Amino acid sequence: MTVITHIEDLRILAKKRVPRMFYDYADSGSWTESTYRANESDFQQIKLRQRVAVNIENRSTASQMVGVDAVMPVAIAPTGLTGMQHADGEILAAKAAEKFGIPFTLSTMSICSIEDIATHTKVPFWFQLYVMRDRDFIERLIDRAKAAKCAALVLTLDLQILGQRHKDLKNGLSAPPKLTLTNILDMATKLRWCLGMAGTSRRQFGNIVGHVKGIENMGSLSEWTAKQFDPQLNWGDVEWIKKRWGGKLILKGIQDVEDARIAVESGADALIVSNHGGRQLDGAESSIRALPAIVAAVGDQIEVHMDGGIRSGQDVLKAVALGARGTYIGRAMLYGLGAMGEAGVTKALEIIHKELDLTMAFCGRTRIEQVDQTILLPGTYPT
Ligand code: GLV
Repeated sequence: MTVITHIEDLRILAKKRVPRMFYDYADSGSWTESTYRANESDFQQIKLRQRVAVNIENRSTASQMVGVDAVMPVAIAPTGLTGMQHADGEILAAKAAEKFGIPFTLSTMSICSIEDIATHTKVPFWFQLYVMRDRDFIERLIDRAKAAKCAALVLTLDLQILGQRHKDLKNGLSAPPKLTLTNILDMATKLRWCLGMAGTSRRQFGNIVGHVKGIENMGSLSEWTAKQFDPQLNWGDVEWIKKRWGGKLILKGIQDVEDARIAVESGADALIVSNHGGRQLDGAESSIRALPAIVAAVGDQIEVHMDGGIRSGQDVLKAVALGARGTYIGRAMLYGLGAMGEAGVTKALEIIHKELDLTMAFCGRTRIEQVDQTILLPGTYPT
């Protein structure tokens, strides 16, 4: 058995254990996947300054995101179909995040429902909202998140239509998977996954099925999204959602300085610089490249977070150095979950935390508040 020392080990194990349809869903970008790749590779271009003979004892990575304490500036990103990477995936990931001391964000497109997560956790989680044409349903979703005492609403603004992901179309992505010969043959090699799924009743979109009239079977995800998601979503909607919700609001999917300025005017508590993990507009700039200009424009008026491409604690540190007050991990968590369930998510968090802590120390810093651009080598980072 391989000793797991970095996120890549978890990815390789997840690929062996998760049915291809769901592994591919997580591990892909849209069209040519150029943005998906750039999210990761642009982090590699940024170099750190090695500092020595600084007292680096008693370090802490403690931070806050929208006023919520976190043991490191990292939250779990909302990811669709998490409960298809592993049975009861969202519950397991939420429990791992709670024990570790970082926020967990549940996706609208989760398998386990808002109520499932509320039942299995004590610390308030965050809920990510997609806006659909059926506004009554959206109002009910917001009210359900309130009833579950969610500590923040993460409103996604970059997915009213779906970026084309070749693999999902070719694999016929659906939840639960259709029992075609190809799927049956593939699942036959993923026994651990099958046993888990046989032992749970959570195999459909828990926030949706049974809550929207006429939706019993969602068929293919891409068709369903095209029919239900509201392409008319605009800043006016942000206003009523903010009012109905009444709590901490985080706007996800901001890549442009002009949009960041409007986000400030909307009165939201934070924005997330994000290109949806390279799954929407292929050809968009990587998140880490887009971050500095947005921080320069609005960083003193709104909390700026980022996601996209984070596979190590070094990536977290670089994002913080460029002004992110918080980051999110999606795939790094999913790889852990697909590989080893709750223990795998915990492992992913431990790996990232350790890399963050040690790298901060090598850069001569002992606290997250001391991390800024001066830890980076000039000329190697975007401005
Ligand atoms: C949905 O959140 C997706 O990116 O597939």
